[in-house]
Amino acid sequence: MNAPVSPADTLRAALAGLLDGLPPKQAAQAVERLIVNYRGRTPTDAPVLRDRSDVVAYAAYRMPATFEAVSAALAEFADAVPGWTPGSHVDIGGGTGAATWAVSATWDGQRPVTVLDWAEPALALGREIAAANPALKAAEWHRSRIGSALALESTDLVTVSYVLGELTEADRAAVVDTAASAAQAVVVVEPGTPEGYARVIEARDRLIGAGFQVAAPCPHSAACPIVPGEDWCHFSARVSRSSLHRQVKGGSLAYEDEKFSYVAAARFPVHPAASRVVRRPQIRKGQVLLDLCGPDESLHRDTVTKRHGPLYRAARDTDWGDPWPPPPEG
Ligand SMILES: C[S@@+](CC[C@H](N)C(=O)[O-])C[C@H]1O[C@@H](n2cnc3c(N)ncnc32)[C@H](O)[C@@H]1O
Repeated sequence: MNAPVSPADTLRAALAGLLDGLPPKQAAQAVERLIVNYRGRTPTDAPVLRDRSDVVAYAAYRMPATFEAVSAALAEFADAVPGWTPGSHVDIGGGTGAATWAVSATWDGQRPVTVLDWAEPALALGREIAAANPALKAAEWHRSRIGSALALESTDLVTVSYVLGELTEADRAAVVDTAASAAQAVVVVEPGTPEGYARVIEARDRLIGAGFQVAAPCPHSAACPIVPGEDWCHFSARVSRSSLHRQVKGGSLAYEDEKFSYVAAARFPVHPAASRVVRRPQIRKGQVLLDLCGPDESLHRDTVTKRHGPLYRAARDTDWGDPWPPPPEG
C-alpha cells in the first residue's frame, strides 16, 4: 500500500507544477524582480504581487519557507493546546495561502477557511494550488485591504503570517486588535530578524491586553525577558530547496534554514512549555548546554550531563525551539 501523501508533499508537487513550462531564466528573473520590489518598500502602499509572474515567483521561491515556518509555530501551539482543533480559520494577508496549508498539515479534517489579501493575482494562484489539497477545496479567497477598516466574523483561528512588516504601525495594531476580537486563537509569524521579533512582541502585548494567554513559544504570559536591541527571540525551520532556489541563490545545498519569530495565543486555557530552548543546543563531550527561557521570566543556561541519565539522552535529541524538559509521551 502506498504511504499517504502529506500536505507538505502535495504542496511541493503543486509548486513544482507551477514552474512547468516557465523557462528557468524567466522564473529566476521574476524572483529577482520580487526581491528588488520588496527591498526598501515597506510598508507597501500598493500590492507588490501584481501579476501572475510575481505570484508564481513568490509561491515557488518563498511559500515553501513560510509554509515550514508557520507549520513549526503551529506544531508548538498544538502541543500547548492538546485536544483543541480549530473549527474554522481565517488567514489575514494570506497571499497564496501558505498558512492554510500549514493549518491543514497540523490538524486533520476540513473546516471553513477564508483567505484575505489585497493582491488578486496571489488569491487566484492560491485558489489554483489549493485545488490539490482536499482540506482546502472549499476555501474562500477574498480581496480585502488590511487595516483599520478590516472586519472579521468570529472564527476559531486567525493566522497572520509574514504580513505585519508590510503594514504601517497603526494598521499593525488594528489588525491584531481585530484578530483578537474575532478569534479564539491567534498565531502571528514574522521573519526571524530583530525587526520581526519587535513586531511579534508588539502583537503579543496587544493579545495579552485583550485577554489572551500565550501558548507558545513563551512559557508564560508575563513580560519577555529579552532586552530589546540586545537579542531577539527566533527559531529555525528547515526548508528543502527547489531547483529554482538553487538557480537563484547558487550553490548545491539541498536545504536552507528559514529563521522566524512567532507568538501563538488563545482565549481558552493553554499548557505552555515548562521552558523553551531558545538557541541551538551545544553538544559537548558528555554534556549538552541548553539556553532556556524559563517560567520565571528569566533566560538561563542549563548544563545537562551524562550523570542526568535519561534526561541527558533527551537533551541530546532536543532541538532549538523545543520545550524543555520534553513533555511526557502521549
Ligand atoms: C510576504 S506576503 C505573505 C503571504 C502569506 N501570508 C505567507 O505567509 O506566505 C505578504 C502578503 O500580505 C499582503 N498584504 C500586504 N499589505 C496588505 C494590505 N494592506 N492589505 C491586504 N493585504 C496586504 C500581500 O499582498 C502579500 O500577499
